[in-house]
Formats: sequence, structure tokens, C-alpha cells
Amino acid sequence: MIDHLISKKTKLAVVGLGYVGLPIALEFARKMSVIGYDIRQDRVALLRQGIDPSREMEPEAFRGKDIFFTHELEDLRQASFFVVAVPTPINENKQPDLGALLSASRAVGRVIKPGDYVVFESTVYPGCTEKDCVPLLEAESGLRMGTDFKVGYSPERINPGDKVHTLTTIRKVTSGCDAESSEQVARVYESIIEAGVFRASSIKVAEAAKIIENTQRDINIAFMNELSQLFDLMGINTFEVLEAASTKWNFLRFHPGLVGGHCIGVDPYYLAHKAKEFGYHAKIIEAGRAINDEMGHYVAKKAVKMMLAQDKVLQNSRMLVMGITFKENVSDIRNSKVADMVRELESFRVTVEVMDPHADVDEVFHEYGLRLVDSPSGAYDGIILAVSHKRFLGLALDELVASLRRPAIFVDFKANFRNHEMPEGVLYWSL
Ligand SMILES: NC(=O)c1ccc[n+]([C@@H]2O[C@H](COP(=O)([O-])OP(=O)(O)OC[C@H]3O[C@@H](n4cnc5c(N)ncnc54)[C@H](O)[C@@H]3O)[C@@H](O)[C@H]2O)c1
Repeated sequence: MIDHLISKKTKLAVVGLGYVGLPIALEFARKMSVIGYDIRQDRVALLRQGIDPSREMEPEAFRGKDIFFTHELEDLRQASFFVVAVPTPINENKQPDLGALLSASRAVGRVIKPGDYVVFESTVYPGCTEKDCVPLLEAESGLRMGTDFKVGYSPERINPGDKVHTLTTIRKVTSGCDAESSEQVARVYESIIEAGVFRASSIKVAEAAKIIENTQRDINIAFMNELSQLFDLMGINTFEVLEAASTKWNFLRFHPGLVGGHCIGVDPYYLAHKAKEFGYHAKIIEAGRAINDEMGHYVAKKAVKMMLAQDKVLQNSRMLVMGITFKENVSDIRNSKVADMVRELESFRVTVEVMDPHADVDEVFHEYGLRLVDSPSGAYDGIILAVSHKRFLGLALDELVASLRRPAIFVDFKANFRNHEMPEGVLYWSL
């Protein structure tokens, strides 16, 4: 397979050109002929102009690449190796929503032919590729997995906003439905991943490996969030405790904070959901989710208590929230827990303004009904520094608190300013 791809006798197709699919498609397009397919015509139109609709890839990343963008399924017939990177979110009941994955599987099933490979990259629970996706590939194609076509799974591990650990410098886990496909899939990825690949023993093992990477982070952050609430009651600053504890060589470095986004706050639900099918109640995983999902509400209530301690009348109070993206220095606003916090503050009748130079104004309005402000409009009773964007941290404390009418509160999620002397009348608090 790899020889045919490199010699361009056949093509590689990437299905779903979002945060994961586009970088992988462009990377393969350095070496082989790639078809980038997405159901969204508007995204395809932008991609054809060298614009990444997710605003992660620069226009230079498109230059000199052998890639053709399309939303026409028929174009995929020229490909023999399919990489599927469509979203796997949760629904409003926090259950896996496999809609996009199943519909992509059906679509790919309509265009594959004997000898083809289909590799899934979307994050799923163990067993999903073989139990949920393969039956659709078989039903649509009339072909049999193993004999007619092969399937693999290779999870994406990119860390949004991280310029050090990037697609090609992160070792990639690969797998296949049998020994031959396991080897072929590994070789295809080895052609672009400088850090090399790890051949997992089965598709299920590769699926499980990916999902526990994020679940492990979620649980550890939940532990920090629990400690933060406990230490607050005890009058101890959690970040000072963590600084001291981190001097031990085997202490794990995690911090309290909001867990939003499309991975860490979502993937554990996939695992917990699958566990139930086996009659197992995933107690730690679910407890971690519950703690992390509550954090936005917890901080809002804490801010309200602080304002009441300053004799503020809540319905006359104005709050500036800095940052809405799910983490620092990225534009992604999916599952923003800051939005939960804003709603909770508003439920106490506090007027809230949100600013975020990284987020798209229309997207935020569409998703959360919040109109972002460009700059502070002044006379705030409090500031919540929710996301530690470099642009915010570059501000001097005086600039930050300039828009406050004192007495006022300053909530600094990640304790960035905890070692600064607060100006008079500013009550400071961090997680
Ligand atoms: N974003 C990350 O940092 C990251 C990291 C690791 C793993 N993942 C996983 O990778 C997968 C993709 O995530 P993402 O962040 O790239 O999602 P995304 O929302 O950025 O992009 C998905 C793309 O797929 C397209 N799409 C949806 N349904 C389709 C279909 N049926 N056929 C073709 N295209 C379709 C959408 O239009 C969109 O362009 C998810 O399973 C996610 O959990 C994401």
C-alpha cells in the first residue's frame, strides 16, 4: 500500500477536515496524492483558497501540497486508503453521539473497493470501530472486512495550541484488523510521523489507549478541583500547596481548572457509557466528570459570595470575564465551561461582559448567545481571568484592574497573579 501511495499509483483520502483531519491531510500531501473530503461545502470552498476554517493552519501549510479538496463523495473513488477524522461528541444527555462517525462510515462504504484500507482516527470507546463502523462499511459496500478490505484505527494525539508536541513529533499508535493490515497501516503513518509509530496489538487496544489518555487527565484534574474546594474551606492556597508538593520527584503535576473542549471533557463519557453495557459502573470516571462539570458553577457562586461580602447589590453589579475558549491561546470554544460560569452569574442577575481576542465573535454568539466585547467598557465590580491567554498575562496588574470600581473582586483561575500585591480595595481569589 505505502509504495502505491508514494508512487502516486493510488490516492489517500481524508474524510472530515477539522482540527484533526486537515493537518493530517496536508502532512500526507507532502508525500502522496491526497483527496480531502468534507460534507460541508462552505469549509471546502475556504480550503480550496488555502484558508483553514478552524484557523489553526497558516496559508503556507497549503503551498506545494498535492491535495484536492471536495465535498463530492464520488471523488473518493480514486482513493484506496481512507482516513476518517470526523467528530465524536456527546449529546445533551452526555451520551456518545456517533451520528457523524456512522454517516461517514456509510459514505466510505459506498466508495470502497476490494483491496482498500479504512483507518479511523476519531476518538471512540473500545469496540466501536469493529462493532459499530465495520458493519456499515460492509453493508454499503457488499464487501467483507479482512478478506475484501482492511480496517485500522490510529488515534490522534495532537494537543491544540501546543507548538512543541505536533502531529509529526508525537509518536502515533497504529493498529489493524489482522497482522498484515497492522503492518501496512503502520508503514503508511511511518512515512510522515518523525517520532515513529507504536503498533498496538489490536484495534480495541488502540481505541482503549487513546480514551484512557484523556480520561487519566480528566480524573487527575478532578482531584485537583476537589482539593481546591477543600483547601478553600481551610484557607489554604492550592497553587502554593502544589508548588510545595511538586518538589517530590514522583508527584504528578496537575492543576485545578475548567475542563472544556472536545476531548478531555467528552471522552470519559464514552468509556463510562461502554462500561455500563458490560454491567460495570465506572465510579472514578463518573465522579471525575461530575466534579469537573460543576467547576464553572462553583466559581460563579464563589464570586457572588465575594461580591456580597463587599456589600455589592448583585443586580447593579458588572463583571468582566476574560477568556471563553476551552483553553489558553486557542480559538476553539467547544464545550466552554466559562459559558456555564457566565450563565450562573447571570442567574444571580450580575451583568456580565466577556472578552476574548482568540474567539470568533459570531461563533460565540451562535453557540452561547453571548456578544463578546472588544475591550473593557469600565466600571466593573469584578474581573474573572478565566483563560490564561498570553495576551492577558502580558498585561500589567495595574492595567488589568484599571477598569474596576472599587471595592471589587479579582478572580484569577490559574493563580497567575497570586504573588502580586493587590491594589487597595481589590479582593483576590484563585482556585
Ligand atoms: N481537536 C483535537 O485536538 C483532537 C485531538 C485528538 C482527537 N480528536 C478527535 O478527532 C475527531 C475529530 O475531531 P476534530 O476536532 O477534528 O473535529 P472538527 O469538528 O474540527 O472537524 C470535523 C470535520 O468533519 C466534518 N464532518 C462531519 N461529519 C462528516 C461526515 N459524515 N463526512 C465528512 N466530513 C464530516 C465536519 O464538517 C468538520 O469539518 C474526534 O473524534 C475528536 O475527538 C480531536
